[in-house]
Amino acid sequence: MGRDVDQALSGTEGGGRGFMTEAVASRVRLRFVEGKGDAAKHTETRVPAGTTLFDAASWNAIAIDSTCGGHGTCKKCKVQVVEGGVAISNLDPRAFTPDELREGWRLACRALATTDLVVNVPPLQTRPKAALVGVGRHVILRPAVQKRHLVLDEPSLEDQAGDLERVFAAMDDLELHASLDVLRELPGILRGAYYDVTAVIVDDELIALEPGDTTARVHALAFDLGTTTVVATLLDLSTGQPLAVRSMLNGQHRFGADVIARISATMIEPDALGELQRLAHETLAELTAEVCAEAGVAPEEIYEIVVVGNVTMISLALGIDPGPLGMAPFIVATRQPVPARAVDFGVLVHPRAPAVTFPALGAYVGPDILAGIVATGLARDRRIRLFVDVGTNCEIVLGSSAEAVATAAPAGPAFEGATIRCGMRAAEGAIEGVKITDAGVEIQVIGDTEPVGICGSGLVDVVAELLRVGLLAPSGLLLGVEDVRERLPGLADRFVRVPNGKGGEERVFVLAWRGDDPARAVYLSQVDVRRLQEAKAAIATGWRMLVQRLGIEESDIQQVLLGGSFGAYLTPASAVRIGLVPKLSVTRIVAAGNVAGEGAKIAALSLPERHAALALLDEVEYVEASGNAEYNDLFLAELTFPA
Ligand code: FES
Repeated sequence: MGRDVDQALSGTEGGGRGFMTEAVASRVRLRFVEGKGDAAKHTETRVPAGTTLFDAASWNAIAIDSTCGGHGTCKKCKVQVVEGGVAISNLDPRAFTPDELREGWRLACRALATTDLVVNVPPLQTRPKAALVGVGRHVILRPAVQKRHLVLDEPSLEDQAGDLERVFAAMDDLELHASLDVLRELPGILRGAYYDVTAVIVDDELIALEPGDTTARVHALAFDLGTTTVVATLLDLSTGQPLAVRSMLNGQHRFGADVIARISATMIEPDALGELQRLAHETLAELTAEVCAEAGVAPEEIYEIVVVGNVTMISLALGIDPGPLGMAPFIVATRQPVPARAVDFGVLVHPRAPAVTFPALGAYVGPDILAGIVATGLARDRRIRLFVDVGTNCEIVLGSSAEAVATAAPAGPAFEGATIRCGMRAAEGAIEGVKITDAGVEIQVIGDTEPVGICGSGLVDVVAELLRVGLLAPSGLLLGVEDVRERLPGLADRFVRVPNGKGGEERVFVLAWRGDDPARAVYLSQVDVRRLQEAKAAIATGWRMLVQRLGIEESDIQQVLLGGSFGAYLTPASAVRIGLVPKLSVTRIVAAGNVAGEGAKIAALSLPERHAALALLDEVEYVEASGNAEYNDLFLAELTFPA
């Protein structure tokens, strides 16, 4: 360390504010040591070169003292680098003596890790709050929004400081700025409140001054703006806890169920973009009103919103032309988070509340999937994990803290019950589970009512079960009734023929009779099996391509995370049997839930986690399926089921 110090003190300073200021192609290994001797806790991690020690610690739930949230103003984030070297930043000499600098002391939020390091983290002066969010993630509460109660000296003929300077001087650990709108309100509020006020700060902007002490009331709203469903979570930023959660159908659904239909509408109808934007705003505004009413929170007490969704949904809500997303080469307007305010999303909370969005890797691996990576911690974990978010457009991410790759697979709507003869969404009356036993067929119906159709998880189950008992060939062909009679005679009367709607007939397997007419029954048809084969092949080709890209084997994958509601209902054993996911023990296949929504919550609760999301742009490689020479061969091979 000695040479670094002497160079720095003689004027050749290194480092400075900036998250990813260096090439990030490589990663460095960090070991954080908390405590001393045998009781010390060691945490190892790998991060992109150029990451600050403050962010790296935060991503690993290691708390470092700070009141400025990593802005370089509080000088509390002191750590000691005991192995490896970290350049001295321009702020370090103001926080440490030359001897301390020689001993490796640095401000963590300025210290860029460019080589392998061992870092001692001193005990905390104050206890940080943390929240359990995402997939078992322990996130240290460090929101961009903070409130400070200020009791200021009144001005006098001797004290002529301006109003804004007076406010800023009371928070000299922060480097703040304020807009003209704030300045317009400032004189009245200060005098009306007799200089007893609360400053509302978001990141490094003073967005409001409120009379009295309002520090106990500080909120943010996290939205998962899905193509089908929109979810709003109102968060108490002082505790990290959700106060209210509401969901509703995306008002844009009458323009079509998927993103392609909505993009097409904007290309055909001149007013469609405006109308789609209006409908998104209406949905978000309605949810805002509902969560506020449920939690007893005034909308103006919400100082920030986070909106996560696919690129098309974010574009439509902000009135950005989505046309280029719908045709090759599928270019996004920006890969960076969009600078916006809540009002740009039609959300009427505090008028100066910013809106935070996530970056996008590509047109079809968008902010929602990056939010999912943050929520699962996939790029921060040493285990090799596969994350599959099943939907019409299925996003797939494979990797670990060493390396991660992502792709999108056009799975089509089969898993949502569309294009399946008796298919339906996972709603009351849908067959969601199927088991074939010696006694016959056991079905599980959502709502325990009469079955009326079959949803995605039921479809996967029935195909997996038919494969297991040998009534469906790996090629996807249903056995003829004679063969069934030989193998499982008790099921032979379920293999019947029904009109195919084109004047002919098709073979089906009846799951539930509704009267004597097989055409009225809930059944699986030969065509349905083909649809499932195509959807499964698209997804399996996606993850196999990623396995090849990382140069690993299927057996190296240690966990499969299934996102979305489909992932929650899918029977893991069935997913393995049809080859939808790698061959893993079923305990290693876990439902990850609504990870996009969890990612939005994490971004509201933690500034360093937002930095983590931004870093993913460099850390995760996007693999375009159409650019892969072997795609067609892999896809054809995946059309058959595992024998
Ligand atoms: S100076 Fe405040 S976190 Fe580093």
